[in-house]
Amino acid sequence: MSIQSPKINKRVTLKTIASMKGKEPITMITAYDALFAKLFDGEVEMILVGDSLNMSFLGKEDTLSATMDQMIYHTQAVCNGAKLSCIVFDMPFGSYTTPKIALKNATRVYQETSAQAVKVEGGKEKTNIVKILSKNGIAVVAHIGLMPQHVRSEGGYRVRGKDEADISRLVEDALALEKAGASIVLVEGVKEEAAKAITEALNIPTIGIGAGNVTDGQVLVWSDMFGFFEEFKPKFVKQYMQGAKNIRDGLQEYKDNVKSRAFPSKEYKY
Ligand code: KIV
Repeated sequence: MSIQSPKINKRVTLKTIASMKGKEPITMITAYDALFAKLFDGEVEMILVGDSLNMSFLGKEDTLSATMDQMIYHTQAVCNGAKLSCIVFDMPFGSYTTPKIALKNATRVYQETSAQAVKVEGGKEKTNIVKILSKNGIAVVAHIGLMPQHVRSEGGYRVRGKDEADISRLVEDALALEKAGASIVLVEGVKEEAAKAITEALNIPTIGIGAGNVTDGQVLVWSDMFGFFEEFKPKFVKQYMQGAKNIRDGLQEYKDNVKSRAFPSKEYKY
């Protein structure tokens, strides 16, 4: 039996999200434009403007060439469409290499969009970035585990937390990021045991993607979960509709209608 969860009727803040830890699973999906953001708004607690847009929206092989200007443009569109869900801006590769650069870019995010937090990939080595942002009033979602921005340097996407030593490293990373001021830890591509250890060790919420069913929330990329992105399908993605197939079927019908002059029929004429 499926539970029909209620609609959200007031702006979700990071305080709301913090209060959900251990009580109610947090739902998050990505969005890249106002049209879809409006559809998702108030249905999920959080919307991530992920740099995954570089792949699904721009057709690139990985996320690494996304820029601050692109991310700001898409986040402004998402903010125009979504007025209730808590919006997170994904800091693109190269935009947070030093605390000074990170602060300059993240300040731009708060000034030019209404996103409520920025997301950065990295473990312990990024605590100086998380610290400077949170000390300056910018909320941070720290992304650990499989980090897509490392795909070139690591030669692929690697699942983490496969042994005790790696689980301990991930827990240490998560604790250090929490101590540095992170508001949420997003855990991607780890064995469920690792996600469990991280979630239990932290006071702040965890949001998982490909991390099993033990985190405080879940996130999926919208074009994956609705079956629009066809390049590849990660194991952890459940497809809730066959988007690409539906579009193709609709397109075929439109084409046939036009070719046969069945469209526009009487009701579509002035
Ligand atoms: O860019 C993105 O969409 C992400 C998700 C995979 C969490 O970082």
